[in-house]
Amino acid sequence: MKITFYGHASLGIEVGGKHIIVDPYISANPNAAHIDIDTLKADYILLTHAHGDHILDVEAIAKRTNAVIVSNAEIAGYYGAKGFQSHPMNHGGSWNFDFGKLKYVNAIHSSSFPDGSYGGNPGGFVIEGEHKNIYIAGDTALTMDMKLIPMRTKLDLAILPIGDNFTMDVEDAIIASDFLNCDKILGYHFDTFGYIEIDHEESIRKFFNKGKDLMLLEIGSSIDL
Ligand code: NI
Ligand code: MN
Repeated sequence: MKITFYGHASLGIEVGGKHIIVDPYISANPNAAHIDIDTLKADYILLTHAHGDHILDVEAIAKRTNAVIVSNAEIAGYYGAKGFQSHPMNHGGSWNFDFGKLKYVNAIHSSSFPDGSYGGNPGGFVIEGEHKNIYIAGDTALTMDMKLIPMRTKLDLAILPIGDNFTMDVEDAIIASDFLNCDKILGYHFDTFGYIEIDHEESIRKFFNKGKDLMLLEIGSSIDL
């Protein structure tokens, strides 16, 4: 499994020979100006919730690639009504896709579209791939529900928001990684706006002091699991 960070909460995932884009907010992110969304491959677009900083580039990417948009039922329906391919899910449900098994799990946040449309309830995803399993938290507070995830899935990586203000901060993300039984963390949802700027060195050190590995990727760079 290969995971590429496209800035903010945007990810590219290659798994099972398929290309997945998660929460694309790239074209308006000045820190991601070197990423051209017209070059991104996508068989699927996974959306954790409907906020503008997670869906901005969905239509441009889906139009070009014909990717299947996977999210909660309300978000899938919103794009389905616009003629895009979509797959509706809801909390606690899993589906076996051709890239692996995907589960939509709880997040504590909100989820309206920028135009005011109802975006259902926000979530995160667990992907069980061929050899590796990951959790993408989406925008969320620390929640006890995270303890449910390792009861079903042994995680190899947890992708957690760490920017504070709208989501967990670093300290809560450290507790989350305890709940998740996963000491390998990719941080996201930081630095994009003034509200969520973090000190990288200090954040990495705080995880390190608890015996955990926080990775902060340069925008456009990847890790292989
Ligand atoms: Ni949000
Ligand atoms: Mn957000």
